[in-house]
Amino acid sequence: MSQSGIQKSIESVLRETRTFAPPATFSATAHINSEQQYEAMWNRAKDDPSGFWADMASNLDWFRRWDTVMQGHMPDTKWFVGGKINACYNCVDRHLDGPNRNKAAIIWEGEPGDTRVLRYQDLHREVCKFANVLKKLGVQTGDRVTIYMPMVPELAIAMLACARIGAVHSIIFGGFSADAVADRNNDAQAKVIVTADGGWRRGKEVPLKVAVDASLDKSASVEKVVVVRRTGGDVDMIPDRDFWWHELMEDVSADCDAVPLDSEHPLFILYTSGSTGKPKGVMHTTAGYLLGTTMTTRWVFDLKEDDTYWCTADIGWVTGHSYICYGPLSNGASVVMYEGAPNWPDEGRFWEMIEKYRVSIFYTAPTAIRAFIKWGNHWPEKHDLSSLRLLGSVGEPINPEAWMWYHKIIGQERCPIVDTWWQTETGAIMISPLPGITATKPGSCARPLPGVVPDIVSREGQSLGPNEGGLLVMRQPWPSMLRTLYGDHDRFRKTYFSDVPGCYFAGDGARHDEDGYIWVMGRVDDVLNVSGHRLSTMEVESALVSHPKVAEAAVVGFPHEIKGEGICCFVSLKSGDGDDALKKELIGHVRNSIGALATPDQIRFAPSLPKTRSGKIMRRLLRDVAAGRESTQDTTTLEDLSVLAKLRADEE
Ligand code: WT7
Repeated sequence: MSQSGIQKSIESVLRETRTFAPPATFSATAHINSEQQYEAMWNRAKDDPSGFWADMASNLDWFRRWDTVMQGHMPDTKWFVGGKINACYNCVDRHLDGPNRNKAAIIWEGEPGDTRVLRYQDLHREVCKFANVLKKLGVQTGDRVTIYMPMVPELAIAMLACARIGAVHSIIFGGFSADAVADRNNDAQAKVIVTADGGWRRGKEVPLKVAVDASLDKSASVEKVVVVRRTGGDVDMIPDRDFWWHELMEDVSADCDAVPLDSEHPLFILYTSGSTGKPKGVMHTTAGYLLGTTMTTRWVFDLKEDDTYWCTADIGWVTGHSYICYGPLSNGASVVMYEGAPNWPDEGRFWEMIEKYRVSIFYTAPTAIRAFIKWGNHWPEKHDLSSLRLLGSVGEPINPEAWMWYHKIIGQERCPIVDTWWQTETGAIMISPLPGITATKPGSCARPLPGVVPDIVSREGQSLGPNEGGLLVMRQPWPSMLRTLYGDHDRFRKTYFSDVPGCYFAGDGARHDEDGYIWVMGRVDDVLNVSGHRLSTMEVESALVSHPKVAEAAVVGFPHEIKGEGICCFVSLKSGDGDDALKKELIGHVRNSIGALATPDQIRFAPSLPKTRSGKIMRRLLRDVAAGRESTQDTTTLEDLSVLAKLRADEE
């Protein structure tokens, strides 16, 4: 991993002194409700991980009990070896015998206002039927299935159907472009793709089938396409390749046994950006991932029988995998799922939905909270939010102002806030307040959950003291840890386990304070965090360079009011000067190659890029220019100082 950005130790300037004790009424009924209980769990998990996780595993239903809880050392630890289990069975079937049979599993609302409720029985029927459809299309245990869909119930049904028969799902967020879909199809060698004609976003149709068609020119492995009719938009259906979901579902049986799978059977691949251009296929396996998401849902969200739980993420990201689907459904929760934008038909949509469904647990991202703040307090104030009892945040460090607003305006000073730190790779929440016991500090994700043994170290791997900024690492393996990068175990070892020997490191800087609270300071590699999602600077650069007029490009992040980080592109052309028309063209080019989420905020033309004498682009200098800061960087190694002056002159 490139770590050009890491300093020996990272300076940390944020100092926040406010603390908020958990409300006594909340603590009284919380699953984890005393400091002693937490400490006992944490110490046991650290000293006797096999014993601890074996006890936890009784919260899942097994077809065959494991022989060995934990086998091998990091990074190649296997969990619950010899066990047979099925994630779909745990999320659906096991709730059918008791009172949850007729409980709402998914309470869905489309952007236009249409609604559907799937009780656990309904979910079971639909999942069994679609599993039979997949089998009919030739999908076998171990085959990869791409899912590229809007946030409709069929998305959850499709993923659970894969899990039921041991097919490995690879879900691609609907905001990605045809090229991105093709790359991922090829990398995973997907056999079938499940999609929709389109989805609704801010009143407009986002076409998906069109993108799938374009991707299929470049991905030969895909044999069949299943299309959900959602928007009713025009699509081309190619005979023998493309099938309507509703037609396939007409003549299949609703009986389909869940396949007993090895604990380490792959459950899914999820692509995420790294510091090099090629997306990484993070692979999770069945038992460990399911156990991690099941337990953390209970601990962190304090989930109870009568909660109505809403995580606003898209299932296309790991947050949706773990905390819309597997974690909550495994616990038998009622999950709210929403298709569209938070500001459609107006900025009150989320608060209206919380009131309508009496949502009690609400989990969203700082980037959304900053947008709510900007839209104004009158939107939430119009609605009755008294059903809420817990709030969550994920995706990036939450700035204390946003935290305070969330606490006062949405939580009405009554709801604990859980600021949850984790990653696609960790599968489940790692560091978070426990709402019944933790006195929260705005901007800190507090302490590690049981089974998580973090440390903050120097580049040399030495543990650092309180308030010294360093690299956030994990010293022990945990059940929901990624097992590999699909098809590239070497890259897996290099990316996560080579920077700090013996430890897992995935790129964040952090410090801990004198109370042991962790403050994550953001990424230290060449990865941007745009609206809570990771984007590789390299990926955007290679998209730019693929344009015929571009000679060279350097992409850096800059502070952005809503998105957290914005994307600034420095571009030098093969010939001639750039103008506004070319800027527009380049922005469109990046969108087409990666997707709307990678839309550049700024394009700046420069005759050449600032480089050291050895030819390395001086990114930190560019970051200062992009942020409009006077540079504090040492420019003595800059090859041609006039380059810098020219970059500044181009500021908008
Ligand atoms: C990166 C992981 C985990 C689901 C969403 C993003 C940042 C995430 C926090 C938090 C500070 C956070 C980190 C991490 N991050 N949550 N609570 N506080 N930073 O998943 O795309 O895998 O990104 O998001 O930088 O490494 P992801």
